[in-house]
Amino acid sequence: MTNDRALDWDAQAAAFDDEPDHGLRDADVRRAWADRLRSWLPARPGDVLDVGCGTGSLSLLAAEQGHRVTGVDLAPNMVARAREKLAGRDAVFLIGDAAAPPVGKERFDVVLVRHVLWTLPDPARVLRHWRGLLRPAGRLVLVEGVWGTVSPVGIPADRLTALLAPVAGRLRVERLSDDPRLWGREVDDERYAVVLVPEGPA
Ligand SMILES: C[S@@+](CC[C@H](N)C(=O)[O-])C[C@H]1O[C@@H](n2cnc3c(N)ncnc32)[C@H](O)[C@@H]1O
Repeated sequence: MTNDRALDWDAQAAAFDDEPDHGLRDADVRRAWADRLRSWLPARPGDVLDVGCGTGSLSLLAAEQGHRVTGVDLAPNMVARAREKLAGRDAVFLIGDAAAPPVGKERFDVVLVRHVLWTLPDPARVLRHWRGLLRPAGRLVLVEGVWGTVSPVGIPADRLTALLAPVAGRLRVERLSDDPRLWGREVDDERYAVVLVPEGPA
């Protein structure tokens, strides 16, 4: 991970899946993410918006679990890889800004976001926008962290939960650092998932 907001995600697309938790090529890593995702997503098939979908690795797991996926990413090379990865599946991929996904009036059962919020300049505003993209009883699934210990970058769980405090609802924080199967190795930085099921009007 790097801190540079101007970082060229397009240029990273070709090698992005080389990281174990990005490409999910190892069967154990893949199974670990599939198990977590199943526990975060609704049991019934629904519409999942994968924001900042990258090469579509989580989109593919969601599709394999029966969900319909819309992926959005700013980087055309990421989107091209996601389209390739999910060819023939019930999935569409759009080039667009995570802060305002180009989905018109469509609403979703899940807004799924992994390792993206930390890169966005105004996370509080973006979280409000994502909450507004949910159907009643929909949920936000946010997978974030703070990477590295020497020059850490990312968003700590307590900051993210504070940003979500204005949204009433059921919130769960799951620590992911202790499960090396997710990362393909032991990690000692902060990695977590937040699942929020908002209650009341958007
Ligand atoms: C660390 S990658 C995560 C990719 C994917 N979510 C995953 O977990 O494998 C961050 C992704 O966010 C995308 N991204 C960064 N800023 C964005 C923005 N403002 N709008 C849309 N996508 C963005 C990048 O192109 C990149 O694909």
